[in-house]
Amino acid sequence: MNDKTLKKDIQQLPYMNMHLDLESRINDLFDRLTLEEKIKLCAGRRMWYIPTIKRLGLKNFIMYDGPHGVRPSITGEVKATYFPSAICRAATWNPELSERFGVALAEEVRAVGAHMILAPGINIQRTPMGGRTFEYQTEDPYLNKVLAVAVVKGVQSQKIAACVKHFICNNQETKRFTVSSEVSNRALEEIYFPAFKATIQEADAWAFMSCYNKVNGIFGSEHFYLLRETLMNNWGFRGFVVSDWNATAFTKTQDMILAGLSLEMPMQQRYKKKKLLELYQEGKINKDYFHDNIKRILRVMFLVGLFDNEGSSPKGKINTKEHQNLALEIAQEGIVLLKNDKNLLPLNIKNLKKIAVVGPNKNLKTSLKGGSSQNFPPYEITPLQAIEEKCKNRIVIVDNPSEADITILFVGLNHELGMDAEGEDKKIFSLPDEQIGFIRKTVNENPSTVVVLINGSPISMDNWIEDIPAVIEAWYSGMEAGTAIANILFGDVNPSGKLPITFPHKLSDSPAHVSSRTFPGNDKVYYEEGIFVGYRHFDTKNIDPLFPFGHGLSYTTFTYENIKSDKAILSGNGNIIISVDILNDGQREGSEVVQLYVKDVHSSIERPLKELKKFKKVKLKPREKRTINFELSSEDLSYYNEEKKSWITEEGEFNILIGGSSRDIRLQIKINYSK
Ligand code: BGC
Repeated sequence: MNDKTLKKDIQQLPYMNMHLDLESRINDLFDRLTLEEKIKLCAGRRMWYIPTIKRLGLKNFIMYDGPHGVRPSITGEVKATYFPSAICRAATWNPELSERFGVALAEEVRAVGAHMILAPGINIQRTPMGGRTFEYQTEDPYLNKVLAVAVVKGVQSQKIAACVKHFICNNQETKRFTVSSEVSNRALEEIYFPAFKATIQEADAWAFMSCYNKVNGIFGSEHFYLLRETLMNNWGFRGFVVSDWNATAFTKTQDMILAGLSLEMPMQQRYKKKKLLELYQEGKINKDYFHDNIKRILRVMFLVGLFDNEGSSPKGKINTKEHQNLALEIAQEGIVLLKNDKNLLPLNIKNLKKIAVVGPNKNLKTSLKGGSSQNFPPYEITPLQAIEEKCKNRIVIVDNPSEADITILFVGLNHELGMDAEGEDKKIFSLPDEQIGFIRKTVNENPSTVVVLINGSPISMDNWIEDIPAVIEAWYSGMEAGTAIANILFGDVNPSGKLPITFPHKLSDSPAHVSSRTFPGNDKVYYEEGIFVGYRHFDTKNIDPLFPFGHGLSYTTFTYENIKSDKAILSGNGNIIISVDILNDGQREGSEVVQLYVKDVHSSIERPLKELKKFKKVKLKPREKRTINFELSSEDLSYYNEEKKSWITEEGEFNILIGGSSRDIRLQIKINYSK
């Protein structure tokens, strides 16, 4: 039979019929696959593929990294938009931007002929020392969830599968292939699970990547409780689980099948054809689970349109102006103004004659390193380039701070191993010594110095920040980073980013850094802080952070007024509306992230002093006032009860706290809950 006749014959088969329902198509194709062919689908080839089965018209299913833009090859032949790192995107506190990012990312995935993106990475930022902290979103489960859901919805709206990673408690790089994260069920439920769960229940995520590490002694890729029971049975996941690359080095074939690991990447190790055939024929693997694992892969293949004609899928596009503008928009909203004494910023282009632009990061490009979230963009604007462009024919740029009206000093980290990079946790919590020396020298020469940090995770600043009037956290903010930074420095853009993670004064203040047991551990790392991660810890232990969770300044100011609730008692499954008026009482248009935290006044069990439960970003013109409404239900007041293995809301009083950061609560109101 020649290729053409074969193709024609395949077209007639039921599973090729786009109008047939999904499950019938899956079953029809499944029944036509031989055992060898089924086995072939369980392991990857050439790093990024599920192999073809030509006989049945099954094409390569292709997946690529990563969280900040698609990267079809690790040698960079294909260029793609490089978006800001996840921590920067999270600092926008803008789910709409995250959804648009998901759409754009998927369009680029489609344009390079792939079907799945190995993103988003949504592990909780347990420690500022994590090598991948920059690649993850936040320390807070609620912010994490809202943004993760938005990304997955955006990606999958284009019929591209999102692969949510790394499930779960992959919070450090030290011994990442073997360490066991020892974590309580309550911490799993309250802190680590919510975003993963929501990507399934609110966005129908089609794929999950299991973690390298063990969780309570069992590897993520063979964890029956995590995968089969929690993800599939309890949360209703209908897609497939793929191992992290080579995460199966120490696992057992039968356990992986039982747990629900459908796809081993990047190649066969535990799912070798000969071995699987033998086990199958000897009745040593659970056939129902094995079949279910394969059907899950087929399901996602159908969902991304692998068997449908190309015209029926949304069109791809790559490196468009629109995507580059989106990268810029995210950067501009994600950059955080940490400090701005005497309103040194924004710079007034009309009043300045000379500015000094100095520091090791002034010309830094950040796309090419960092691990699997590395990118190859067609260009990358550095801070110096963008400042030169803005100042052209207007302001002279010099190297010497003492002769300048103002100095912009670029310091930070740089994605080298041991800084902010996959594969190794950070080696130091401060800036390198030479940079601290350079900051001191610069501010001695020119007290009007603005420090711009380019890095992806909290650092200590205690030994220099007192002397510096203005500090900006610019993260690794993508291919338009320089433009975004210059626009913020010169006030073309009013900063509105807020920290998605607490910046501690010193590392020992941080909840994971109580002892070497809690970080980095040895064979085991003990999450002894339990649910007290991030600001939950700082609040409860009454430790002053350097910059609190949710902090970020603006060039305008906002007044919070008139907090109200539509009723005094929230009962049963009902809801309650909390409203507040926000007024922009400054001179410029600006956006504020209004944050709502809940405090349980009398609880039978220890709970955090406050927990973020809602937020809204509002853009206001000068003097504009808007009423913001937040709807709360009993779920927003609940905690996880380990004995009862369920979420509980206790009757009684709750404080609803509203403000501009976790430590800048402007208004509060009491409500009551009754069953
Ligand atoms: C990383 C994943 C990545 C995979 C493929 C692994 O080392 O942990 O996040 O998607 O490699 O590059």
